[in-house]
Amino acid sequence: MPTSFIITLLVLFLGVSLKTSKALVPFACDPNDGTRRNLPFCQVKLPIQTRVNDLIGRMTLQEKVGLLVNNAAAVPRLGIKGYEWWSEALHGVSNVGPGTKFGGAFPVATSFPQVITTAASFNATLWEAIGQVVSDEARAMFNGGAAGLTYWSPNVNIFRDPRWGRGQETPGEDPVVAGKYAASYVRGLQGNDGNRLKVAACCKHFTAYDLDNWNGVDRFHFNAKVSKQDMVDTFDVPFRMCVKEGKVASVMCSYNQVNGIPTCADPNLLKKTVRGQWRLDGYIVSDCDSVGVYYGQQHYTSTPEEAAADAIKAGLDLNCGPFLGQHTEDAVKKGLLNEAEINNALLNTLTVQMRLGMFDGEPSSQPYGNLGPAEVCSPAHQELALEAARQGIVLLKNHGPSLPLSTRRHHSVAIVGPNSNVTVTMIGNYAGVACGYTTPLQGIERYSKIIYQQGCADVACVSDQQFGAAIDAARQADATILVMGLDQSIEAEFRDRTGLLLPGRQQELVSKVACSLEGPNCIGLNVWWAH
Ligand SMILES: *[C@@H]1O[C@H](CO)[C@@H](O)[C@H](O)[C@H]1NC(C)=O
Ligand SMILES: *[C@@H]1O[C@H](CO)[C@@H](O)[C@H](O)[C@H]1NC(C)=O
Repeated sequence: MPTSFIITLLVLFLGVSLKTSKALVPFACDPNDGTRRNLPFCQVKLPIQTRVNDLIGRMTLQEKVGLLVNNAAAVPRLGIKGYEWWSEALHGVSNVGPGTKFGGAFPVATSFPQVITTAASFNATLWEAIGQVVSDEARAMFNGGAAGLTYWSPNVNIFRDPRWGRGQETPGEDPVVAGKYAASYVRGLQGNDGNRLKVAACCKHFTAYDLDNWNGVDRFHFNAKVSKQDMVDTFDVPFRMCVKEGKVASVMCSYNQVNGIPTCADPNLLKKTVRGQWRLDGYIVSDCDSVGVYYGQQHYTSTPEEAAADAIKAGLDLNCGPFLGQHTEDAVKKGLLNEAEINNALLNTLTVQMRLGMFDGEPSSQPYGNLGPAEVCSPAHQELALEAARQGIVLLKNHGPSLPLSTRRHHSVAIVGPNSNVTVTMIGNYAGVACGYTTPLQGIERYSKIIYQQGCADVACVSDQQFGAAIDAARQADATILVMGLDQSIEAEFRDRTGLLLPGRQQELVSKVACSLEGPNCIGLNVWWAH
């Protein structure tokens, strides 16, 4: 009779990934543009604040309003191109968000494990190192015209309700761990070059957001009721540490309301707390499109102009979505907002763009200008992704002990479970295109003879039809590894869970395979958690 132990791998988002330039017209202040390159806002030697004020002073109200949205308009008169602010880099450069385009010289990027795994390493050095690698690849992609420089990552919402579909994106429920994660990852992304930014990170979504769609309430209609103490002790902490210790260049406000006020319309949260008390040196952006949501779905104001004015007066500087582009000019005409308040918003966004070097002319002659396709998916980057996966794995029990497995004693290994041979499932959401994949099955195959039985057709596991074959596989093998868990069809953005158990009949499969080997007590089940 074979083996006496079984290993269960729950979920699995460990991504390991390969690689890949051209001269582009700079975003602004093109050295070949004789008429504009001498304007004060293009003068690298002048203080940034002087340059920003010079630029704002040259723009019409209409031109300014065109810069209040993620898909910021060009100002051809001043030699400024359009800019897409929305890129994502939750655990590697992501293809979510229109600012990043995989393909051409940049078909792939290094994918790190989903954040909930990386956080389980409790290793701030690792978190910062990952941020450095991700920003190397992001800069390389920017230099090649494939990505922006403003990344709306990390997600540091407190994972208070473990049924939340986006908990996988977060560093967990502990405020201090989440705060340390935020500050470390942001430092890695933004670099360590004084006031200059390698890329601009963003801590989101401020605040008390941990519900997507649950029991008839979605995030667009969720009103989080939070006591003052819970706000200060819990929900504020990761954001405060992100701003004060990480010196993040951006904070995003959420869709939900807190105590009856949409976060993106709340001057107490934005102006007073984030900018006033924590001294954010950067811009505040809305979720996409929080302003349209609190007008159209929450009916928080009776006119769109009031909604636009409330956001900017509350301290919002940039709108993800079209709403401020459509209604801000009329808000000014109706006397709900004055142009100085718009100037203030632009001061915050343009300062970040200047700190990124976007008004310094040719990127190739600037810091980070040498980064290119060779950086992306380099062996060193892929090795760090693997290292992060190793550091994040949690061994809950080692009965016997039966681990580690040995190539001497375990000549054959049964691989069972719906996630045994998955690829994209491993990298979770807000991922990019990985450099490459090694499925659990392919990985174990390098060490041992494999007997593969999925056991369930998919993670939903509604039928026990394949259970018998899985049990037989386990009986034949010297060791059995069950690769169980979830994927985005079970837990995702817009998809909260109602419980925390394994889906469908997965638990039954685990028990049946284990008990067929262990006898009535079914002991000896080792559990690894690799999210
Ligand atoms: C933290 O991670 C770094 C980078 O991988 C590694 O060198 C270091 O040994 C880790 N620290 C601990 C305590 O594991
Ligand atoms: C495992 O997955 C890989 C990648 O999708 C696929 O090429 C291979 O055929 C699968 N192996 C089995 C045994 O199903």
